[in-house]
Amino acid sequence: MNTSPKGFLLLACSLIIPIISSGAIDTINTTHIIRDGDTMVSSGGMFELGFFSPGNSRNRYVGIWFKKITVRTVVWVANREVPLPNESGVLKVMEPGILALLNDTNATIWSSNTSRSVQNPVAQLLDSGNLVVRNAADNNPENFLWQSFDYPTDTFLPGMGFGWNFVTGINTYLSSWKTNEDPAPGDYAYFMDTTGYPQIFMTKNKVEHIRIGPWTGLRFSGTTNAIEDPTYKLIMVMNENEVNYREETIDRSVISRFTLSQSGVAQRWTWVDRTQEWVIYLNVPADNCDNYKLCGAYGSCNIANSPSCECLDKFVPKDPESWVRADWSSGCIRKTNLSCQGDVFFKYSGIKLPDARHTRHNESLTLEECRAECLRNCSCTAYTLLDLSKSSGCLLWFEDLIDIRELSQDGQEIYIRMAASEIDSEGKKPEVLIGSLTSVIVMVLLVLCLFLYIWKRRSESKIRKGRYRGSNEEHSELPSFSYSAILKATNYFSDDNKLGEGGFGPVYKGALEDGQEIAVKRLSSTSTQGIDEFKNEVIFIAKLQHRNLVRLLGCCIQGEENMLIYEYMPHKSLDVILFGGHLTSDRKRNVLLDWPKRFHIINGIARGLLYLHQDSRLRIIHRDLKASNILLDSDMNPKISDFGTARSFGGNETSAKTRRVVGTYGYMSPEYAVDGLFSVKSDVFSFGVLVLEIVSGKRNRGFSDSDYHLNLLGHAWTLYKEERSLELVDASLGKSFCLPEVLRSIHVGLLCVQKKPDDRPSMSSVVLMLGNEGVLPPANQPGFFLEREVIAQSSTTTTTSTNELTITMPEGR
Ligand SMILES: *[C@@H]1O[C@H](CO)[C@@H](O)[C@H](O)[C@H]1NC(C)=O
Ligand SMILES: *[C@@H]1O[C@H](CO)[C@@H](O)[C@H](O)[C@H]1NC(C)=O
Ligand SMILES: *[C@@H]1O[C@H](CO)[C@@H](O)[C@H](O)[C@H]1NC(C)=O
Ligand SMILES: *[C@@H]1O[C@H](CO)[C@@H](O)[C@H](O)[C@H]1NC(C)=O
Ligand SMILES: *[C@@H]1O[C@H](CO)[C@@H](O)[C@H](O)[C@H]1NC(C)=O
Ligand SMILES: *[C@@H]1O[C@H](CO)[C@@H](O)[C@H](O)[C@H]1NC(C)=O
Ligand SMILES: *[C@@H]1O[C@H](CO)[C@@H](O)[C@H](O)[C@H]1NC(C)=O
Ligand SMILES: *[C@@H]1O[C@H](CO)[C@@H](O)[C@H](O)[C@H]1NC(C)=O
Repeated sequence: MNTSPKGFLLLACSLIIPIISSGAIDTINTTHIIRDGDTMVSSGGMFELGFFSPGNSRNRYVGIWFKKITVRTVVWVANREVPLPNESGVLKVMEPGILALLNDTNATIWSSNTSRSVQNPVAQLLDSGNLVVRNAADNNPENFLWQSFDYPTDTFLPGMGFGWNFVTGINTYLSSWKTNEDPAPGDYAYFMDTTGYPQIFMTKNKVEHIRIGPWTGLRFSGTTNAIEDPTYKLIMVMNENEVNYREETIDRSVISRFTLSQSGVAQRWTWVDRTQEWVIYLNVPADNCDNYKLCGAYGSCNIANSPSCECLDKFVPKDPESWVRADWSSGCIRKTNLSCQGDVFFKYSGIKLPDARHTRHNESLTLEECRAECLRNCSCTAYTLLDLSKSSGCLLWFEDLIDIRELSQDGQEIYIRMAASEIDSEGKKPEVLIGSLTSVIVMVLLVLCLFLYIWKRRSESKIRKGRYRGSNEEHSELPSFSYSAILKATNYFSDDNKLGEGGFGPVYKGALEDGQEIAVKRLSSTSTQGIDEFKNEVIFIAKLQHRNLVRLLGCCIQGEENMLIYEYMPHKSLDVILFGGHLTSDRKRNVLLDWPKRFHIINGIARGLLYLHQDSRLRIIHRDLKASNILLDSDMNPKISDFGTARSFGGNETSAKTRRVVGTYGYMSPEYAVDGLFSVKSDVFSFGVLVLEIVSGKRNRGFSDSDYHLNLLGHAWTLYKEERSLELVDASLGKSFCLPEVLRSIHVGLLCVQKKPDDRPSMSSVVLMLGNEGVLPPANQPGFFLEREVIAQSSTTTTTSTNELTITMPEGR
């Protein structure tokens, strides 16, 4: 029991609410009139109906909003296309059973409709947010004359049905508002498509924009986050009368909604009582790969690749010229044409299923029968299991396969028709894996075995030219370089070639015989802790492929010496350019790091981190993100490096506790530094610090505001609160920067360094926030506001190894 004064106050308030609202009614009959200013409140006090004006508009609309929520959030609008000019409207229930909105000449400007008539109609606002018209004596939902849930505006609420009722002909779908001040239908719609097997489309001006699905029995293909959430139950009803999807909240105290924004982003929101704000936890589109048909027919989109579009294995670009120009719309074609006779099927895994408009299905077939069925008809291009929940049924495609993307989790399998001769070119087995879960496990084991094998041999090995690409990883191995080649490349580890000290040893620059420039990380033989980190780095980075992560070229083992070989980054690390101090003049820094480059770097780091957290197969927390771990290539593309302390976490697990805290002061989140709790949100904190450092050109650690003794975070927050954020901007930028981008970056940075991990946005939100123009939530006070005090408290158990690189706490608190 919460017996604190605050808890008591809350209790007292919740007792008072019913008394205050007891004057409000939830049901009106033909004798009642709702005037502008009057409201109806649902019996449990969840929702309220009344007149309102959106934004700065003076027009009046009848709408429904959450009663209990301090931020006015309208979930439904009656007269969305026909506003009232002033406060003179009234809402009435009338015979034969309609709800009507009248203006001051008693003309009906909006009304509900009904196909039946009743004697004594009433309108009732239910606790689900549904406004219904029914017979006063009949509570049965089946007999409702009309309900607002059939005609939603831009908001989908738990319990609301979404889709087609073939009996009434009603299609329940969402349409965005025009603007914040005009709830009339805007450009975007979000609806159930039943042309083939049910899937969802978001359209922009009636043109397909984003596709979600098809339904797989468990969820819509391509969605992952939705079912990770245990507070939801997804219900799909499919029969000859309806195709209806709805979501039920299991915990009734969770307040949530799903909306379609004016800019075409579908978002799931949850109300957080503690902070009194709506928090987004699902965005559609999540990234570029969600754009409908981006890669054309038989193309596959993988957001971790650059470029994102590739042809499916056994397919080649139809128009290679436009393909290299990044116009992928022409898609791909088979290397070998089908002959129909004796065709085979290749399995592709870990994908979002292709557009299912030209499909047929049969619930009673098994997968084997499904294959036979597809073989029988020459125009059948692919098949898959229909219902994952029952592991049965058959779904067949009859057109080119379009809108496929690779998924890092919860992807499906599909069997695509191929000419029999492709089997020979494949060698042995006709089943090609793309990023399936099994291949990840196989991969981890492979790399581990390989590593241990090399480790054991400890002998000089020959250079093997190994190529490894994301989708070919079964064949991948970490190439091994000969010690003599490395010695030659680094000029016998000469001091002139030394670039600096990395997480577990010195780093040298070198050039291989073929001219390729490399960086060699050498594990110092004295370091014991280093061996674990070395292994860690090998295990993680060998499997990560993203343009914003540094690329490992191979390793080299010689006696006690262990080395990792990376691509060389000509612009070294971000901290050198950003905080170069006396080495880098302001002018030079401004040339190298003007605002567009800085913004590019911020975005690149965000995408790299998003990949680590969400999209990579391992789901990784970096734990030591800082300016010196961001390397810059010749085009100033940022690359996250140093995975010596990274940790992988399982599907559901998103945080863990460690007894050994590694990381860097100034970048560490409070819960990690003090309690050893790390999660993706501790990386988000470090990212926030980095953003503020990039904007200000100043280190968080060591920064001291002369007036208030605040660190950089505190200083940024103080300026933000006083709406003086502009003063944070690096003086070397002069006046040449894009103001909205700068302010947005600072704001996002501050959101990321908020004290409470739950308040910090996820990296997917960060990427979206940086890229969009929407309104950002206000930031709360950052963690380590007065850094010095907190650090003093925890540093008693801290040993510092190198000057600032690794700190160790023998015991968690
Ligand atoms: C309408 O409801 C009121 C109570 O709210 C009741 O007194 C009145 O009789 C009802 N009118 C009709 C027509 O049912
Ligand atoms: C509302 O507007 C109408 C005409 O637009 C006007 O006749 C009427 O007096 C106005 N009513 C009020 C209450 O302002
Ligand atoms: C509108 O209807 C109300 C009640 O039915 C009536 O009192 C009022 O006079 C009507 N107003 C006009 C302008 O017809
Ligand atoms: C009331 O609505 C009717 C129908 O839309 C319209 O013709 C009329 O001008 C409106 N009356 C006023 C006073 O605005
Ligand atoms: C009610 O109105 C909606 C929207 O105008 C229409 O689609 C629907 O068919 C109507 N229903 C009846 C029963 O008239
Ligand atoms: C494959 O089929 C296409 C279209 O039917 C045709 O243009 C092409 O020449 C065929 N390719 C081969 C190698 O037969
Ligand atoms: C599904 O397959 C079964 C077995 O082949 C067949 O009897 C049935 O007619 C099929 N159903 C449909 C709807 O095609
Ligand atoms: C193959 O399937 C297509 C699409 O359903 C159908 O139109 C066609 O008649 C079928 N052909 C044969 C030979 O069954």
